[in-house]
Amino acid sequence: MKYVAIVGSISKDSINMRLAQFVAKRYSNENNEIEVLHLDKLPMYNRDDEQNMVPEVIAFKNAIKAADGVIWVTPEYNQSIPGVLKNAIDWISRVDNVINNKPSMMMGTTPGFLGTVHAQLHLRDILSALGSPVLIGNDVLIGGGHKKLTLDNNLNDESTVNWLDIVMNNFENFVNNKK
Ligand SMILES: Cc1cc2nc3c(=O)[nH]c(=O)nc-3n(C[C@H](O)[C@H](O)[C@H](O)COP(=O)(O)O)c2cc1C
Repeated sequence: MKYVAIVGSISKDSINMRLAQFVAKRYSNENNEIEVLHLDKLPMYNRDDEQNMVPEVIAFKNAIKAADGVIWVTPEYNQSIPGVLKNAIDWISRVDNVINNKPSMMMGTTPGFLGTVHAQLHLRDILSALGSPVLIGNDVLIGGGHKKLTLDNNLNDESTVNWLDIVMNNFENFVNNKK
């Protein structure tokens, strides 16, 4: 299986990027490859440019097109998804909608208690509108992430790691069932 992880933060200190790197490290093996995609080189979406997308956008879309599934790792900004993530989704959706029929799952982390619940509800709606089947009933909402995700991209909370093991396995089955 080939997955891409899309992280909705371009901060060098991002705890969501740490989470994505942890997931890539823990669940990549001889059968599964997880590539973490970065959003910092994507320009602001402008429909004037969509017939002539810059190479960074084309490469980003091609990576998604080649993947069996997408793992969205989103922060929460003002009870929704960050603008950088919405910008990326707007590129994804145009000319060729590379997320249509592409299975998705999501996770996120905040320093506060709620672990991106509002952002994930919005993201689920957006992905559904674009035709991406979304794994539900497998919420990965990591509160207190600044204490659990270390600078060397580890997740030092055993019960969360155990839950992630279950969810990642469920996602693999979900993707297989969509083939
Ligand atoms: C503009 C902005 C809005 C935020 N809004 C929320 C919010 O609605 N809910 C929340 O739990 N945290 C909120 N936060 C705090 C983020 O969860 C926190 O900064 C987190 O570390 C961002 O993820 P990152 O470290 O991966 O960039 C907000 C932060 C910023 C900068």
